[in-house]
Amino acid sequence: MKGVILAGGTGSRLFPLTKVTNKHLLPVGNKPMIFHPVEKLIEVGITEILIVTGPEHMGAVVSLLGSGRDFGCEFTYKVQDQAGGIAEALGLAQHFCGTDKMVVILGDNIFQDSLISFVTAFETQVTGARLILKEVPDPERYGVPVMEGDRILKIEEKPQHPKSRYAITGIYMYDSQVFDFIAQCSPSRRGELEITDVNNFYIQNNQCYYDTFQGWWTDAGTFPSLKKASDLYSEMQELNRV
Ligand code: G1P
Repeated sequence: MKGVILAGGTGSRLFPLTKVTNKHLLPVGNKPMIFHPVEKLIEVGITEILIVTGPEHMGAVVSLLGSGRDFGCEFTYKVQDQAGGIAEALGLAQHFCGTDKMVVILGDNIFQDSLISFVTAFETQVTGARLILKEVPDPERYGVPVMEGDRILKIEEKPQHPKSRYAITGIYMYDSQVFDFIAQCSPSRRGELEITDVNNFYIQNNQCYYDTFQGWWTDAGTFPSLKKASDLYSEMQELNRV
C-alpha cells in the first residue's frame, strides 16, 4: 500500500504565519505539522510516501523531510502548480500509486488513533473506498456523511443543515479507481476539484465504506484549530510520559 500526504494550498486562513512558509511546516506540539501524518503512515508500515505541495515552498519541504532515510521511509515529491483542490492534488499521485491501494492524509489533519485497525480493514476490502469519520459538535464546517449499515450513502460538503453529526476527516483510503473518478470531476463553484465529488463517485458505485475515530481529531488550518491541535497533541504526550 502507498501513502500520499497532501500538503498544498495557500494557508490563507493562517496568514501572515503562512506568508513565507507552508502551513504544513508550522509547529504542532514539538514538531512540524507534516511530521504527524508521516509518523502515522510509518506506524502502519507504509514506507513509500508521496508528498504533494505547491512550488513556493517545495524547497523547504524537501529540506525538512529529505529522502526519508531519517524516518525509515522513502519520500517522493510532486509539485501542484496551483491550488486546484484536494482531488487535483491527488490526481498527481497516479503514476506513483499505479494499481496499488493508497492511504491519503490531508497534511493538516492531526489525530490520536493509530491507523492500524482501519488499514487492516481496508486490506480485506476487495475494492472501493474507506473513509474515517469523527463525531463533531460543528459538522457544518466539513464534509458531512449520511450512513446506513457499513456504507456511506451520501456526502454533503459544508451543508447549512447537516444530516448527521459526523465529519468526513482528511484520511481517505482508495483503490486505484480513484484516478478514473478524479478524471471525471469538474471544477466546483470555487474553481477546485473537490474530494467530496470523488467520494460521491464511490458512493454511486455502492463502494464507500467507513470507520470512526474514537480518539481526538482536528484539522489545523485556522488559528483556533492550530492551537487546539498543538494542545491536544502536547497533552497526549504529557499523559504518555506519566
Ligand atoms: C476538506 C474537505 C472536507 C473535509 C475536511 C477535513 O475541507 O473538503 O470534506 O471534511 O477537508 O479536514 P477543507 O479543509 O478543504 O475546507
